[in-house]
Amino acid sequence: MSEAANASTPYELLGGETGLRQLINRFYDLMDTAPEYYGIRKLHPQDLSGSRDKLFMFLSGWLGGPGLYVEKFGHPMLRARHLPFPIGNAERDAWMACMQQALIETGVETSLREGLLKAFFGTADWMRNRPEGAE
Ligand code: HEM
Repeated sequence: MSEAANASTPYELLGGETGLRQLINRFYDLMDTAPEYYGIRKLHPQDLSGSRDKLFMFLSGWLGGPGLYVEKFGHPMLRARHLPFPIGNAERDAWMACMQQALIETGVETSLREGLLKAFFGTADWMRNRPEGAE
């Protein structure tokens, strides 16, 4: 990849490590405190620091930055890793709403935000594992 292409990865556009950390911290702070996200909050461990780190490492690579998650844990196997948690439409929509709010509150510019939300939706939708979500 050329330098120019590299400079316009979503990772760079978000502000690199600092911007991504800010986004993820806001995402989990919201999940931890807003009643509308309690349904997904309760699926997570009481201490969210591991969740913060893993999502940060995963998104770093997924957004075109350093592939931290794969270096440390290997293939993400995201769907398999989510199978222990019941995820249907409600959980998918809560995750997306929480991420949308975090993107807005951390000041991510509209076109980048919309592009990211589209990409997140594909992954969040694929994570559904309850009968209502089966094809
Ligand atoms: C659809 C709704 C979703 C729900 C309810 C959900 C819930 C969870 C839960 C409960 C965990 C375990 C937390 C922990 O081990 O600390 C987890 C882990 C994780 N989630 Fe999600 N998640 C969703 C969507 C997503 C999406 C869209 C992504 C990526 C774009 C994602 C990325 C991850 C990653 C990287 C981990 C850590 C996996 C590991 O190494 O164990 N999740 N998720």
